[in-house]
Parts: sequence; C-alpha cells; structure tokens
Amino acid sequence: MPKVTVHRKAHFNAAHRLYKKEWSDKKNFEVFGKCSNPNYHGHNYELIVSVTGNIDQETGFVMDLAILRRLIKVEIEEVFDHKNLNIEVAAFKNLNPTAENISVTIYNKLREKIRQDLDLSIKLYETPRNFVTYSGE
Ligand code: NI
Repeated sequence: MPKVTVHRKAHFNAAHRLYKKEWSDKKNFEVFGKCSNPNYHGHNYELIVSVTGNIDQETGFVMDLAILRRLIKVEIEEVFDHKNLNIEVAAFKNLNPTAENISVTIYNKLREKIRQDLDLSIKLYETPRNFVTYSGE
C-alpha cells in the first residue's frame, strides 16, 4: 500500500528571549547573540506539519487536512500567536524557547491528537534561512 505524506503550513508571530538566568547579560549575548536581548524581540515563525501513513481505502486520505488544520489552529496558533513565549506559554516557563525546543513542544502537543499509526514530523522556520526539523526521535 502506498505510504504518502501530507503537509499543512501554518504561521504564528511570537516574541522570545533566549537566555539562562544564572548567566550575565554578557555571557548570554556571547552564546545567544541578539536573541538574548533583555527586552525580547519577535519572529515570524513558519510551521510545516507533515503526516505520513497509508492511504485510507475508503476516503483516499492519509489524514483529513481539514482536521489537521483545525488541530494546528487550536493547539498551536491559538496558544503561540502574538504571545511572549517566555512569559505567556507555560511550556517555556523553564525551557529556553529556541526553535529546537519550540519544535519538540509542537510535536508533543500534536502527537497526542494524531492517530498512532501515522508518523508525524515538524519543520519550523524561525527566519527564512534558519529552520529545524523534529520527528520524535
Ligand atoms: Ni530570536
């Protein structure tokens, strides 16, 4: 049976600051660069959620993309969009909101809601040139 991957693109704007509170501002700048700016800054995050599985013989779908769209809207966009990730999103109270950690957080939130026989993969662009992928390993 053919295995096919379906993709859904999504978008959110969010502010963050990358830092470790036990480090000085100087050390934070050395490690995290401008992303350690104490006054926060925003990114236009572009998200691609990919779901791989067999085509359902009845519907012809791997997964109904309308369902995936709503899932991303409720679980990700409504939680992250126009938020300060450090301050307003519980997942990042004690976790640096790097693109890596945001991807794992998104994966974990969606993984719970998508059938276990389907594979899930996340691609998150923090800038047009910087992006990370996570598939649950
Ligand atoms: Ni940044």
